[in-house]
Order: sequence, then structure tokens, then C-alpha cells
Amino acid sequence: MNTQLLNLLLLLVFIHFSCFLVLVPVSAKVFLSIDCGSSTLKPHTDKNTIVWVGDDPYIQTGETRKVNVAPPNISGWDSRVMSTLRAFPSRKKNCYSINIASSKDKDATKVERVLLRASFYYGNYDNKSSPPTFNLHFNGNNWFQTGDIITTTGIVYTEVVYSLKKGNNINVCVAKTKPDNIPFISTLEVRSLDSDAYSYVPPDFPLFFIGRYAYGTNSTTRYPEDSFDRIWASIGPEVNANYTRITSNSPSIDVSIDDKPPEVVLRTALLRANASENLMEIRVSDPKIFVQYNAYFSEVIKLNSSQKRSFNLVVNNDPDSIVGPVVPPYGRALEVRISNITSSANFSYWIDFVPTDDSTLPPLINALEWYNIGDKLAQGTNSTDVKALGLLQKNFNQLQDWNGDPCLPSPYTWDWVSCNSDTDSPRITAVNLSGLGLKGILPDFSAMDALEIIDLHNNSLMQGIPEFLGMFPKLTVLNLADNNFSGTVPSSISNNANLKFNALGNPNLSCPTSTICNKESRIPSPNNGNRSKTYAHPIVILLVMLSGLLL
Ligand SMILES: *[C@@H]1O[C@H](CO)[C@@H](O)[C@H](O)[C@H]1NC(C)=O
Ligand SMILES: *[C@@H]1O[C@H](CO)[C@@H](O)[C@H](O)[C@H]1NC(C)=O
Ligand SMILES: *[C@@H]1O[C@H](CO)[C@@H](O)[C@H](O)[C@H]1NC(C)=O
Ligand SMILES: *[C@@H]1O[C@H](CO)[C@@H](O)[C@H](O)[C@H]1NC(C)=O
Ligand SMILES: *[C@@H]1O[C@H](CO)[C@@H](O)[C@H](O)[C@H]1NC(C)=O
Ligand SMILES: *[C@@H]1O[C@H](CO)[C@@H](O)[C@H](O)[C@H]1NC(C)=O
Ligand SMILES: *[C@@H]1O[C@H](CO)[C@@H](O)[C@H](O)[C@H]1NC(C)=O
Ligand SMILES: *[C@@H]1O[C@H](CO)[C@@H](O)[C@H](O)[C@H]1NC(C)=O
Ligand SMILES: *[C@@H]1O[C@H](CO)[C@@H](O)[C@H](O)[C@H]1NC(C)=O
Ligand SMILES: *[C@@H]1O[C@H](CO)[C@@H](O)[C@H](O)[C@H]1NC(C)=O
Ligand SMILES: *[C@@H]1O[C@H](CO)[C@@H](O)[C@H](O)[C@H]1NC(C)=O
Ligand SMILES: *[C@@H]1O[C@H](CO)[C@@H](O)[C@H](O)[C@H]1NC(C)=O
Repeated sequence: MNTQLLNLLLLLVFIHFSCFLVLVPVSAKVFLSIDCGSSTLKPHTDKNTIVWVGDDPYIQTGETRKVNVAPPNISGWDSRVMSTLRAFPSRKKNCYSINIASSKDKDATKVERVLLRASFYYGNYDNKSSPPTFNLHFNGNNWFQTGDIITTTGIVYTEVVYSLKKGNNINVCVAKTKPDNIPFISTLEVRSLDSDAYSYVPPDFPLFFIGRYAYGTNSTTRYPEDSFDRIWASIGPEVNANYTRITSNSPSIDVSIDDKPPEVVLRTALLRANASENLMEIRVSDPKIFVQYNAYFSEVIKLNSSQKRSFNLVVNNDPDSIVGPVVPPYGRALEVRISNITSSANFSYWIDFVPTDDSTLPPLINALEWYNIGDKLAQGTNSTDVKALGLLQKNFNQLQDWNGDPCLPSPYTWDWVSCNSDTDSPRITAVNLSGLGLKGILPDFSAMDALEIIDLHNNSLMQGIPEFLGMFPKLTVLNLADNNFSGTVPSSISNNANLKFNALGNPNLSCPTSTICNKESRIPSPNNGNRSKTYAHPIVILLVMLSGLLL
């Protein structure tokens, strides 16, 4: 039955772009659509009945811009929404912060899957005719495990599905990878999914969507047909002469399976015109290592007793990787999952649809989605440390536009902190706020008990030096020089043998002996050797090709 493989039609799908879907833990359903760069206060409802809001409440940084080239008229995308963007010329990383966990439910362990989607339409907003390349992060994780997002002259979007711990905000950051490439973003969408959806993937693994096609449709399907607002692309208005599209004659199609595909997508199918030839070979060229395919089927005609449609899905031409036989049910949806396929050496994956010997009808396909199962999600920087950093930010507005995870992903740590090298849940090991013009009184950030270095020199910090500054168990350097501290040096500092301390240049500080305000550590220096490790991973930049589809 495999002899016809060579004759199979090749559907060649190159990777478009990665898709991010974010999973949000909330008890209420979230369906938030942010029109980045739109400062309009009045929400805008598009032709899909999606309500778009401006992005001001979610970000403090960046500049709003309008495109100079009108967005393409593509089904599924609203041209007004795509006409504005937010660009980020300054800072290495800029983040949106979305608090979706405002419900009363205090169950910190509850997670809910969320789909997060970001889209990018350059539209020559800067008149440079040069769409940029940059990095994208969600909650301290790289959205692209293989490199940067590459924008084009068209609309590019990416999705990730993940589970967010209850109480956490969603953070999405764009980050510079090349000095002259200015990151931007056009939309950011959060959709919560039912708890059953994609539940066969453990909650601590993100799903990076690679593609999602409804083969029988001739235009894009999304909300409201898909209540989760997944975007099901069409392979085009026309199919070549070897194929036909057939619409089911079933009065209704039951789509109440876990992943809840939209009914319109299951109502139409793609078939080979010549019933005695195999349907297709779907081939994906993708550098990702572990790919999950979800294929959706529904029979389009009520079969009589002498008719049978039955086929196997053969993966990578491997006789040990046959899934099936698939017999599409009439009036219902069937989802067939092919889990965790490993690519061949040349990074391609393919699936052949091969009729079984007793089949009288050709194979069909309604829809297919496939994605990369990502690395285990980072927990994010220790939340005790993050909270204490928040106190500093609250007190000093110079620090307030730092957003997103302070340490992750490496190497996009905030400029004024250093972190240890735990890539799952890092601790803050150094805070350097020197020369930032900070005025006022230090808040109590003693909860950051992994601190080894505190450098606050050359600011206008005032009043007494807090006792807690000498009590960090691992602190070896404390620099308070050139401020406006007054009173005396607390004993926690003067008696701390580990500490190299400097408070010179505080005119109102009492320094009865020269070593009170400027002392070396009495512990020999090897101990000071490995204070703070910053991340230094090479950034892998990998070309992600826009997907094209040949039929
Ligand atoms: C966009 O395309 C749709 C259908 O393809 C059409 O009805 C609509 O008029 C087009 N809009 C513009 C502004 O061209
Ligand atoms: C880009 O060019 C258009 C017209 O050519 C002009 O109206 C616009 O101000 C320019 N924008 C920038 C950012 O230079
Ligand atoms: C697209 O499909 C719909 C129904 O499936 C059909 O009514 C319409 O004529 C099709 N349009 C084109 C351009 O084929
Ligand atoms: C249809 O299929 C045949 C046999 O596989 C192939 O030779 C032909 O080029 C195909 N036609 C088109 C339009 O792709
Ligand atoms: C259908 O395919 C079979 C097997 O490839 C071939 O022998 C036959 O000629 C084809 N029929 C048509 C009408 O192209
Ligand atoms: C089943 O349907 C096919 C196609 O309509 C027809 O050719 C065939 O005679 C039918 N067989 C029976 C047993 O009804
Ligand atoms: C996928 O398969 C590889 C081995 O082929 C295995 O190491 C990995 O854990 C699997 N991933 C998942 C999420 O099942
Ligand atoms: C990839 O390798 C397989 C065999 O492992 C081969 O059949 C296929 O044609 C190759 N694809 C490309 C695009 O080179
Ligand atoms: C933060 O780190 C401390 C020390 O390792 C640990 O006791 C605490 O549980 C961590 N907090 C969280 C929320 O993980
Ligand atoms: C803190 O930052 C300043 C300026 O960026 C730098 O001169 C100083 O050496 C840093 N302090 C430490 C302890 O690294
Ligand atoms: C002190 O900080 C200010 C900014 O607040 C900066 O302009 C000045 O150069 C710094 N002085 C020294 C000696 O670093
Ligand atoms: C220094 O602090 C004292 C209060 O401790 C305050 O009166 C004074 O204005 C401050 N000086 C500067 C330059 O901020």
C-alpha cells in the first residue's frame, strides 16, 4: 500500500513564523485584544467582532507610530488595527505587563492554558524600508527558542500556548539583538483556553505554534467561529486540478472534542480528485526538534454499506511510525494526534496519507495544526526578590519603566541588577543604582537575601543608613558613597567582617574614625571571587523563513 508514495502530492509548507500562545491562569475567561500604538480610548470593534483596546494601560515605554504603507487586505486581519504600532528605540528590552489574575480566587497553584499571540506589521513606519529583526520573550522565556523574529513587508504573527501560575502577570517583551534594528509590535492578544484544550501537553511545557490550516476553506477562519480565536489559514481560494474541496452534507457536525476545532473548519475537506491516488504528502521544513501534529477529520458524505474511507498516516516514511487507520466519522469531528515527531537530518517532517487496502474512497483532510513543544518553562526570578525590587521601583520613578522578568531570559537582565546562573528561578545577587539621581529614603528591601553587592553611590539618598543593609547574609560590597545619609553607621555594618563598605561623601554622616565609613572586608578575597554571575549565552540567530504553501 505504500507503493504510491512517490506519486503523492507534495504540500510544501515552509515555516512561516513562530506563533506564541500564552496560557493564563485565571478563573474568569480572558479575551483581551490590544491594538499596540493606538492611544484611542474608545475600543474599536473589527469585522470579526473582536474588540480592540489601546495599549497605554499595559506599557510605559516606547513610541506610538503610524504605518506609511496601508496593511494588506487579508481576511482575518483588521486594517485599522494593523495601522498603528509601538516602537522601542531605547532600552535593550521593553515589556508589556498584563494583569489578568485580578479575580478573588487565591489558589496560587491553579493554572489555566492561555493562547498569546503577537503580530507585527512594519508598513515602513520609519521610512527606512527595512523591516527589523529582534527578540521576543514571554514571562522570562524566549518565544523563539531558535532565534529572532524576522519581520517582513507583510503581516507576521506568532503564538504560544502556556500555563501561567495564578497571580502572575503576563509579560511580553521585545528585545534588541542588533543595535540598529528597532523592535516594534502591532498587536498583542490573550485568549484563555478551556482546561481540556491541549491538556495532553504538561502545563510546564509551552507550545509554539508553527502552522494551522483548514484545507477545505477558501478564507481565514478565526473568532467568532473559533471561540478561542485560533487562526485557521486557508491554503488559498483555488486548489490545483488534482484536488477538490468538498463541503459536508451532514446537517450538523459535533465538534465537542477536547481541542474544540470550529465547526466551519470540519465542514469542508480537501480530497484528491482522482480517487485512486493518495491524498497528499504534507512536508514541513522546520528546524524545531520535537513537533506535535493535530489532524482533524470529519466525513463529508453519508457512506452506504459498500463505501469505506480508511487511510493510514505514515510519518517520515517510517514503517514503525504509522498512525491509523483513520476512518473519518460522519457528523462528528475526529482528532488524530501525532506526538513528538523528531525531524530528519535535513530538518524536514512529512506525513503521507495512504489508503488501506479495503478503502474504496480517497483520503481526506479537514484541518491540521502543528507546533513545537518547547523547553520546560522557566519559573522566573524568585518572586520574593521580584517583590522587593518592586519596592525600590515604587519609591524611585527612575526605575519604573523596567518591566518583565528582571533576570530572564538570559542575557536580557535589567541593566541595574545581576543574577545568579540558575536559569529556572534565579536570585538577584547585585543591585547597582549608582548615579541614577535617586532622591529620598531607601525602602526596606531586606527580603532580597541573596544579595552580594549593593552599589548606591552618587545619589541623593537621605536620612539614617538602615540597619538591614548590614544584615544580608551574603553581602560583601556595600557602597553608599556620595549621598546625603545622616546619623551614624549602624552596628550591623560596622561589625560585619564580610563587608567592604564605603560611605564617604555623605557630609551629614558621623564618621568618628576613618574606617567607620570606609572599611575593607576582613575576610580574605577568594570569597569575593564568584559574587555575581551574569548570563553569557551566545544568542543563536536563526533564519526563520516565512511560510509559503504550495499546492
Ligand atoms: C477587502 O477584501 C474584502 C473581501 O476580500 C472586500 O469585501 C473588501 O471590500 C476589501 N476591502 C478593501 C478596503 O479593499
Ligand atoms: C515618512 O514619509 C512620509 C511621506 O513620504 C511622511 O509623511 C512621514 O512624516 C515620514 N515619516 C517619518 C517617520 O519620517
Ligand atoms: C468560498 O467558500 C464559500 C463557501 O465555502 C463559497 O460560498 C464561496 O463561493 C467561495 N469563494 C470562492 C472565491 O471560491
Ligand atoms: C497532478 O498530478 C499529476 C500526477 O501526480 C502530476 O503529474 C501533475 O503535475 C499534477 N498537476 C498539477 C496541476 O499539479
Ligand atoms: C487516476 O490515478 C490512477 C493511478 O495513478 C491512474 O491510473 C488513472 O489514470 C487516473 N485517472 C485519471 C482520470 O487521471
Ligand atoms: C453506494 O453509493 C455509491 C455512490 O453513490 C453507489 O455507486 C453505490 O451503488 C452505492 N452502493 C450501495 C450498496 O448502495
Ligand atoms: C520527545 O521525544 C524525545 C526523544 O525522541 C524525548 O527526549 C522528549 O522528552 C520528548 N518530549 C516530550 C514532551 O514528550
Ligand atoms: C530530507 O531527507 C529525506 C530523507 O531522509 C529526503 O527524502 C528528503 O527529500 C529530504 N528533503 C530535502 C528538502 O532535502
Ligand atoms: C526564593 O528563594 C528563597 C531562598 O532560596 C526560597 O526560600 C524561597 O522559597 C524562594 N521563593 C520562591 C517564591 O521561590
Ligand atoms: C555600578 O555601576 C557603575 C556605573 O555603571 C560602575 O561604575 C560601578 O563599578 C558599578 N558597581 C559595581 C560594584 O560593579
Ligand atoms: C553622578 O551621577 C550623575 C547623574 O545623577 C552623573 O551625571 C555624574 O556624572 C555622576 N558622577 C560621577 C562622579 O560618576
Ligand atoms: C540632605 O538631607 C537633609 C535632611 O537629612 C536635608 O535637609 C537636605 O536638604 C538634604 N540635602 C540635599 C542636597 O538633598
